[in-house]
Parts: sequence; C-alpha cells; structure tokens
Amino acid sequence: MRHFLTLKDYTKEEILEIIALGLKIKKEFKAKAQPPYLHGQTLSMIFEKSSTRTRVSFESGISQLGGHGLFLSNKDIQLGRGEPVKDTARVISSMTDMIMIRTFEHSRLEEFASYSSVPVINGLTDSYHPVQLLADYMTMVEKGMDKDPIVAYVGDGNNMTHSWMMLAAKLGFELRIATPKGYEVNATILQEALEFCKTSGGKIIVTNNPAEAAKGSTVITTDTWASMGQEDEKEARIKAFAGYIVDEKMMASAQSNAIFLHCLPAYRGQEVSEAVLEGPQSLIFEEAENRLHAQKGLMVWLDLHR
Ligand code: CP
Ligand code: NVA
Repeated sequence: MRHFLTLKDYTKEEILEIIALGLKIKKEFKAKAQPPYLHGQTLSMIFEKSSTRTRVSFESGISQLGGHGLFLSNKDIQLGRGEPVKDTARVISSMTDMIMIRTFEHSRLEEFASYSSVPVINGLTDSYHPVQLLADYMTMVEKGMDKDPIVAYVGDGNNMTHSWMMLAAKLGFELRIATPKGYEVNATILQEALEFCKTSGGKIIVTNNPAEAAKGSTVITTDTWASMGQEDEKEARIKAFAGYIVDEKMMASAQSNAIFLHCLPAYRGQEVSEAVLEGPQSLIFEEAENRLHAQKGLMVWLDLHR
C-alpha cells in the first residue's frame, strides 16, 4: 500500500504514470465513457484549512469514479476537539477506503498516515502541496511545455515552492526560485531536492533576484505571499515582497511561448498582475480543472497499488 504525502517518495516513472493515467481518465470522462474505477469506495476528506479546488476536485472526482466522498471539517469531527490523530486515523481508515487530509504541520499528516490502514493523500500541509503539482505538470504536458522546461518560481518559499523543488528534482528539469531575503525555501528540503538532482539531472537555482529567475524561462509561476495560517503577517509580507510581482514586463522577459501557472487563489496586484492572470499566456483555469483529472488518476493509481 502506498500513501501520497510528498513527491519525494515517488520515482520519475511513477509520477509520469499517475499523470498518464489522469490524462487517460480525462479523455474517457470527456467522451462520457469513464468506467467506475472506484465503484462503491469511500474517500474521507479531512479539512483543517479552507479549500475550494481541493474539496471540489476530490469530492467530484471520487463520485465520478463511482465512489463517495465524505467531507470532514475539523469544526465537525472530534479531531478538531483534540481527539488524537492516531485514534482518528485508525477509526476512519477502518471504515473508508482512502483518506485525503489538508492540515498544518506536515508531521501531523505523517503521523496520520503511519496509523492508517488505507492510502492517505496530502491535500496540502504547511510544507508541501503535491497534488497541485500533478495538475500543474499535467497542464505542461498537454501544452507540450514538458520538453526541457525552465520553470521560474517567483515569490514566497512555501509549500508550493517545496513541491516544485521535488518535481524538478525527480523529473530532472531546471527550476529557478526567486524569493525575498528572509522568505527563502526550507534549507533541509532544498538539500534533499539537490541530492535527487544528482541522479536526475535536475537543476535548482535559488536567488533573491526575480528578473534573473524569469529571464528566458518557459514557465513562470507564483503563489500567494501569505499562505493559510500566515494571515497576521499579511501586511509585513506585502512590504517585503515589493518587486516580486509577476507582471507583463516579467512575462516578456521569458521565452516568447512561455506560460503562466498559479495554483490559486490569486491576489491580483500582489504576486501577479491582473493583465498576466487574465492574459493569453495564463493557463490558470486549465490548471485548476486538471486538479480533478490528475487526482482521479492518483486515486485510481493508489487503488491499483494496494
Ligand atoms: N490550489 C488549491 O489547493 O486551492 P484550494 O485552497 O481552493 O483547495
Ligand atoms: N501556499 C498556499 C497555497 C494555497 C493553495 C497556502 O498554503 O495557503
């Protein structure tokens, strides 16, 4: 049995297999010919943070696969009142077939998975957001942007950045990360990713210069400057991130066919300009839709590997 906690635990072949399966299921779904791969199965979805895309994609995804999604907000379940993770994990995994969790500390997810008798999927932690990267890479594949990509991530060194690092390290492409001083990526995760790069041929460059990262890139991506749980830091972060907006000038410095990705929700006028977000290079809504297809691929893959 496999969990899906970070891309660290997956090989290049496995990541590409999940994406290929997601694309196959997408095609079947669009042709209204999708078999009920997970007929009768229940997916528990535990949310300790807000969500639009993750909830809707997992809940619709499991029902389209012939199963049922159970939305469990921490406001409603005993976990939110302090029932131990290890008890919750054993109870929920004894009754349902797969579990998705969105939570704060990554160690909380790891603890949950270690007590779960069914596959656990990371629906975002403070450290990683790997299901988003499946959708992002799927979008790159569909647009033919997966051939020797040069990805520029401009903004906060956060869960999205860490997941991009793992994707680049596993698949072996170039990732340039530009963050302001003091908002760099986690040094331990960077070291781990650089270790994987030694065998994959991946390249990760970290800088405090956004123009340097963006110049000549094929994909520009960013994320909110204040993630969930950092609401109190919002004002200070807006000041610290001045100059890090992805705007038309920055997009123009990338290759002429470059694309823009953003996991959403986006804050117009902060990490990205309205013109870029709504512009012709932006694939944000294809990317968001691909959450559905990529995660259906993931759930079916996990079911095949138990
Ligand atoms: N990108 C993403 O995970 O969005 P939600 O927070 O809406 O789920
Ligand atoms: N970094 C953001 C991603 C939201 C999908 C957050 O953690 O809030």
